[in-house]
Amino acid sequence: MAVEIRIVALFALLVAAMLGGRTQAADAVGPFTQAQVSAGRNAFLTYCSGCHNSYLLGNSGPPLAGPFFLDDWAAKSTHQLFRFASTNMPLNAPGTLPQETYLNLIAFILAVNGARPGQTPFSKDSDVTIGGIVSGNLVVPVLEGEPDPVRTLPLRTKSGPGGGH
Ligand code: HEC
Repeated sequence: MAVEIRIVALFALLVAAMLGGRTQAADAVGPFTQAQVSAGRNAFLTYCSGCHNSYLLGNSGPPLAGPFFLDDWAAKSTHQLFRFASTNMPLNAPGTLPQETYLNLIAFILAVNGARPGQTPFSKDSDVTIGGIVSGNLVVPVLEGEPDPVRTLPLRTKSGPGGGH
């Protein structure tokens, strides 16, 4: 009995912690502008969506949104993500796009993952921990090119119940 109550309490705490973390991160402003997000969306659909899916859910390449992406990138910085993408992507022609295009692409990927655009343009020196600005939710209006990124879809985790997809 006592054990049961403790388990229920622990579960409630966990849920509260998850919800709390999400709300906070979803409101975080990233080091990029809305103009970069819009330009990044166009570039993504041209150069990246063939392998990563136009909703960033993965295809021959891995998902670039939600828990799958955060497992790899939450602890790393926006600069590392920029460096990785601008050196290795698109996989069939690595490093061939202009630097400006890579900067826009990272802004777009961060916005799809829940970071909000602000006043500071993303630059090659922008160095913010990704887990501190993204929510792990998929921001649908950013994907669909709508101006106000509000609607979100929670994505399944790799390890949680119903995950493993
Ligand atoms: C020809 C297919 C292909 C294209 C086009 C492509 N990618 Fe990828 N991408 C991959 C594959 C496969 C991987 C996984 C291998 C790796 O990490 O090196 C990957 C990995 C990544 C990762 C790291 C994902 C992770 O969780 O570690 C990022 C970020 C990324 N791609 C961004 C992009 C961007 C931005 C573009 C467009 C400029 C792009 N990719 C175009 C196939 C592709």
